[in-house]
Amino acid sequence: TDPTLAQDVLAAMRDIPDFPINGVVFKDFTPLLLDHALRSRIVADTVARQRGTVDVVAGIEARGFILGSMIAHELGVGFVPVRKEGKLPSAVHSVSYALEYGTATLEIHQDAVSNGERVLVVDDVLATGGTLEATCQLVESCGATVAAIELVLEIEALGGRSRLAGHQVNTVVTV
Ligand code: PRP
Repeated sequence: TDPTLAQDVLAAMRDIPDFPINGVVFKDFTPLLLDHALRSRIVADTVARQRGTVDVVAGIEARGFILGSMIAHELGVGFVPVRKEGKLPSAVHSVSYALEYGTATLEIHQDAVSNGERVLVVDDVLATGGTLEATCQLVESCGATVAAIELVLEIEALGGRSRLAGHQVNTVVTV
């Protein structure tokens, strides 16, 4: 375990007011990526929990690609991108979900994970939970199982965790 990881991660994240729209304070994690030591501790924290428990890592566009590929590398398993609509070239499963205004669609290659595989889902932030809920549906539509969800930051007030009932959800920092 790494007792100061949460406070060090929180200290390294940057608040950007009014991004992407007025009134939103965006939690920017790019300073974490610049810091090799801190980045390694984040990856090590997940890897220590998940080693031997998963067959493949699914990372969510875009920041889940960065974290997820490092974690997959350390776990010695494959990496699957979950992408926004229209980006994956082969046959896909799609799930659409409601945003505050409009909808969003995420996709996974149908042959990316196999029946019965245990999938570790990785992203940076849990906010409303729509993105992760859709990703879990995509994994399950391939016949695979979501073994766990690993995140850097959970914004508790937005209640996203309630949409992930039945899944193991681990976050480095909760605000
Ligand atoms: C952010 C974040 C998560 C998602 C969380 O991605 O990286 O994927 O939102 O929000 P939710 O819990 O309310 O669904 P964003 O939509 O900004 O996409 P990007 O990573 O491609 O910029």
